[in-house]
Amino acid sequence: MSADNGSDKPKIIWITGASQGIGEALALLTASQGMTVIASARSREKLEQLSARAENLSGEIIPKPLDILDRLSVENTIKSIVENHGDIDLAVLNAGTFIPMDGKEFRADTVKQHLDLNVMGTSYCLEPLIEIMKGQGSGQIAINASLSGYRGLPTAAAYGASKAALINMAECLHLELKSSGVDVRLINPGFVKTPLTDKNTFHMPFLVSSEQAAKNILKGLNGSGFEIRFPTAFAGIMGLLRVMPYRLYFYLAGKQLN
Ligand SMILES: NC(=O)c1ccc[n+]([C@@H]2O[C@H](COP(=O)([O-])OP(=O)(O)OC[C@H]3O[C@@H](n4cnc5c(N)ncnc54)[C@H](OP(=O)(O)O)[C@@H]3O)[C@@H](O)[C@H]2O)c1
Repeated sequence: MSADNGSDKPKIIWITGASQGIGEALALLTASQGMTVIASARSREKLEQLSARAENLSGEIIPKPLDILDRLSVENTIKSIVENHGDIDLAVLNAGTFIPMDGKEFRADTVKQHLDLNVMGTSYCLEPLIEIMKGQGSGQIAINASLSGYRGLPTAAAYGASKAALINMAECLHLELKSSGVDVRLINPGFVKTPLTDKNTFHMPFLVSSEQAAKNILKGLNGSGFEIRFPTAFAGIMGLLRVMPYRLYFYLAGKQLN
């Protein structure tokens, strides 16, 4: 994704979950490349600080505080972006959460929290975005899922289920929206060092920085592949596990529990 869209106008990017972690790093990277970034999350203060950090960059970061669970606010935010800036070139639906849940202490409420934010929050963004981008006849929507959506992993019954849903959703939308000029992409990161994973007490293999994650995401969005997955080695391992027969998969995954 280059900084302009063939005209003099800079690319307009909307990022959800931009107040910290992967979203924050992606906002700074894209602004450094001259793009106009509309940054959303609930924390107004963090977004304003982020915007100030972009002051010397060639692009800009415009704070647009938003709770993606508030459907009407999502619709109004998207409308106001279009009214103030014109076509949205790229939307990165990144806001999400992870709360580890031991399967022996299964809690439906924890599942609901993940499905509400990761799946429904993303869907509240998708509905108006798809309508607008169909009208534009162009636009890219990137959905941030996770490699953990590939297969069931320890402590991830709630998180993994929500991310598996997003992977499936992105596949369907990619197929169905292509003819309308809307390019739906899937982002599947491995472990990225962010405030979300700083809470983890377990070893996170192949951990990468949020800056590196942002670089991988932007490189992928500039390319033509549907899925942007990283880091390469971990994505390769997870890819293998994904197609492995259950008997072998459970044997290998079970070893992690011992
Ligand atoms: N870090 C990893 O290892 C990793 C790996 C794979 C996938 N991912 C995915 O990547 C995405 C970003 O992860 P991260 O590690 O950067 O997480 P993070 O550091 O916890 O950041 C999450 C972002 O989402 C925002 N957010 C949370 N609830 C929201 C709501 N209701 N409305 C609007 N924004 C909301 C947060 O800001 P506010 O609190 O200010 O709203 C924050 O900006 C998530 O979808 C995550 O599942 C992360």
